[in-house]
Amino acid sequence: MTTPRDHLSELSNEEKASLTSGKDFWTLKAIDRIGVPSIMVTDGPHGLRKQAAESDHLGLGNSVPATCFPPASGLGSSFDPALAERVGVALGVESAIEDVAVILGPGINIKRSPLCGRNFEYVSEDPIVSGVIGAGLVKGIQSQGVGSSLKHFAANNQEFERMTASSDVDPRPLREIYLRGFERVVKDAQPWTVMCSYNKINGVYASQDPWLLTQVLRDEWGFDGLVVSDWGAVNDRVAALVAGLDLEMPGGDGAPDRAVALAADSDPAVASALDASAGRVLDLVGLAQASPAVAGPLDVEAHHALAREVAGRSIVLLRNEPVEGAPLLPLAPSATVALIGEFARTPRYQGGGSSHINPTRVDSALDALTAELGDHVAFAPGFAFDPAAPGQDALRDEAVALAASRDVAVVFLGLTDAEESEGFDREHIDLAAHQLALLDAVVAANPRTVVVLSNGAVVALPFADRVPAILEAWLLGQAGGSATVDVLLGAVNPSGRLAETIPHRIEDTPAFGNFPGSNGHVRYGEGILVGYRWYDARDIAVTFPFGHGLSYSAFSYGAVSAVVAASGDIEVTVPVTNTGSRDGREVVQVYVAPVASAVERAPRELKAFASVEIAAGATADVVLTVRREDLAYWDIRVDRFVVEGGAYRVEVGASSRDLRGSALVEVGGDTVVVPLTPESTLAAVFAHPIAGPMIASTFAAIQAQLGEGDGVLSGEAMEKMMGSFPIGRLPSFGWGLDRAGVDQLIAAANAPQG
Ligand code: BGC
Repeated sequence: MTTPRDHLSELSNEEKASLTSGKDFWTLKAIDRIGVPSIMVTDGPHGLRKQAAESDHLGLGNSVPATCFPPASGLGSSFDPALAERVGVALGVESAIEDVAVILGPGINIKRSPLCGRNFEYVSEDPIVSGVIGAGLVKGIQSQGVGSSLKHFAANNQEFERMTASSDVDPRPLREIYLRGFERVVKDAQPWTVMCSYNKINGVYASQDPWLLTQVLRDEWGFDGLVVSDWGAVNDRVAALVAGLDLEMPGGDGAPDRAVALAADSDPAVASALDASAGRVLDLVGLAQASPAVAGPLDVEAHHALAREVAGRSIVLLRNEPVEGAPLLPLAPSATVALIGEFARTPRYQGGGSSHINPTRVDSALDALTAELGDHVAFAPGFAFDPAAPGQDALRDEAVALAASRDVAVVFLGLTDAEESEGFDREHIDLAAHQLALLDAVVAANPRTVVVLSNGAVVALPFADRVPAILEAWLLGQAGGSATVDVLLGAVNPSGRLAETIPHRIEDTPAFGNFPGSNGHVRYGEGILVGYRWYDARDIAVTFPFGHGLSYSAFSYGAVSAVVAASGDIEVTVPVTNTGSRDGREVVQVYVAPVASAVERAPRELKAFASVEIAAGATADVVLTVRREDLAYWDIRVDRFVVEGGAYRVEVGASSRDLRGSALVEVGGDTVVVPLTPESTLAAVFAHPIAGPMIASTFAAIQAQLGEGDGVLSGEAMEKMMGSFPIGRLPSFGWGLDRAGVDQLIAAANAPQG
């Protein structure tokens, strides 16, 4: 059996070039004479958006009905890669039924600032959570013979000037924070495609950056799939092709294809890049052809049920304080409920832009709660979404009167489509003033108030101490309404955890002052201190910390044990007991940091986690693996990841600020031999395995010559002072080490070791 790639050598440069850009918005070009069909790629990420007629990439034109699963901000809160994989399988099935070869997701960019308009589509402020959940999704999608497109590669963390701005990021945060999740997914799940981002990185468009698309992605990480541009991300097509971009989307007017073919005719470097890219397009077609056709129809009910289960797992119970002796949640079955807030009737369950799905159906909390509690529920909208709409006072008064007449008030607050979306960023993190005023009035009328939040990215919660119960219900997909009711009534015991910190104020956030940049540049000035790393390093109080989330049960942790396995990974074991009366899930989190480091480190970094189901009264021995490579920092002296040797503190807990136990392990470090130069400091020379002993004996000789008492080179303070002295400057001091001696020392140190 021949594969499409077998025909590569039969193609002209024009034909090869034609393969490397789209036919239209969503399809690739066919080459009939060699039997290469046109395949389809469509959005993603949390449901299929296959447009029937009017095509656009902004979510405007209608698409075929598909299940809208919880967007990534919800799914990420599950902290459960197995659940993500099940969602991936469902996405794969829906894509396969619609004959879609590649679904454009997942998106795993880091939530650098809560203001990014697209945070609802991204998983976390932490690269391990992003990478692990992203890998789960990719594995699930691809298990169905459908490709995924890992996006947006890379450092695409804002919408402001997203198609031109340069993300100016130092090597350490770039590698340790912004690329680490991508690396994880590429290595663990081998996505068929990676989508490059719109932005520039340190001045170079991602779409034409050979360092990013070839050196890092292919040479270092071993990616052998296809790189597709984000829609309209290509600036200079020939440069992009040579840099490693295989496919420009959507289709152009043919001019870039002609430019590529022409350049390939005369320039062997372009010709070989074209061969490589056209070959990868043919490989993708081959993968799609090899996938078995999946017959419909879609099992709408089964996928809706999965969407509901996942939404229930995404909800984070932020607070559940006792009122008159008992927590408000779950609601007592006999309670009369004032259900307040337009979001309960008109759910906001997905974000705006290219990920916008035409759902198979939508559950509202109002319908779901009424179905369960009948006339124990009464509804008042409380507010109109548009703050400028007339009649807000009357709506508020009606809701307050209702709240006063019922046992409990459940108030749905949130962000509207106008406030957050792909394409623009928020300017603040506040809920609309009329919603907050409504809440204040309701709480005054009935302190037994529960708040349910509908938002794609975090909002400030100035009422967090005044309201006894708060559910962070994100954007939860089409079954979010019924899933929220499952949690309110206790049919589902909440187990979601915050994959992003909820700060008090935007001024406290790491990127404040450096977001969204100006004059075409955004400086990632916070460096590696992104998310909880920042709040912990700066000791800043937050409303709810990263990793936080409550349960209707309670969990206690036994002694933590941690050992370094032969592989170098750290195996962490901790017994966790469900001490409550309900079965539940605990998300066990492992944070690690070296006790001492030669470079700046966050106080702790999440390195492993597990969502574990534990029956009431039972104990689970939870085993987690911290990968050795995740201990590494990016060493700019040698341009690679390096694990420092020494003691590491392994902390285990229920959130980044609720640590229940810890252990110390001794980790063997990587050998780093930094080539010496005349600029190397004496401290570096002394620490060098070859030059160190040499310089020590030279100095001993000099010291002997100078005699006792003159201690130029001894004494602690002198040692410190001399520590930062470049070796190449020593000859001018006339202490007996001349230029030739220095050169000899450097040559000996840098000589290849046999
Ligand atoms: C978005 C991508 C999306 C593409 C196709 C772009 O504007 O950034 O995430 O996959 O459009 O709709």
